[in-house]
Amino acid sequence: MYIYMAKGIFVYERQNSMVLIAPSILSADFGNLQNELKALTKAGADMIHLDIMDAHFVNNLTFGAPVVKSIRNATKLPFDVHLMVNTPFDMIDDFVKAGADYITVHAEATTHLDALLTKIKKYGIKAGVALNPATNEDTIKYVLDKLDLVLVMSVNPGFGGQTFIPSSLDKITKIKKMIKNHNILLEVDGGINPLTAQQCVAAGADILVAGTAVFKTDEYQKNIEALK
Ligand code: DX5
Ligand code: ZN
Repeated sequence: MYIYMAKGIFVYERQNSMVLIAPSILSADFGNLQNELKALTKAGADMIHLDIMDAHFVNNLTFGAPVVKSIRNATKLPFDVHLMVNTPFDMIDDFVKAGADYITVHAEATTHLDALLTKIKKYGIKAGVALNPATNEDTIKYVLDKLDLVLVMSVNPGFGGQTFIPSSLDKITKIKKMIKNHNILLEVDGGINPLTAQQCVAAGADILVAGTAVFKTDEYQKNIEALK
């Protein structure tokens, strides 16, 4: 953040470079994950985003805790686990043991969000809630004290390579206001490219998840820098 004077008043402005980039390994070479993680670390990634899909909450199926565990030692970067599953309650334990630093659950996947967040926090790791594009931000209003992260889905979850949904920007702005007195990171996931990255940061995003934009060429460092 920097401060400058304009017409006699102080103006606070965020610098884009403050945003954190969390590459999603959904777009990585699954046959070579250890090396992909090492390359991302060298390229300046801030955390590693792990998309867990169960073929029920979303159509797609990815990987589970054993795979996360097998790549944990490839980097010291935080593991940001995004659970797109119907049974998050039953999976927390395994992902904590696999080395998750953040576990983010979908508000739409549970009727007991408060209890689920309490369970994650009991392990001493960070807890997040993800909101699908059609989910109202008020869903998180009464659990702010239990949150370390809010994940705004800017596409419908399930697949990489989709187009950013513009109404996400309004939601980011509203959530930024809602969390202003809390120590909560605001993360955006889906359709992030250099243009949408800039728009999300202007609206208040702290972390950008990017799959396609990071892995589109093997120049990961250049691709990450283009989003900052
Ligand atoms: C979508 C996943 C995202 C996805 C982002 O369901 O949660 O993390 O990998 O991919 P891109 O950056 O390609 O939209
Ligand atoms: Zn994700």
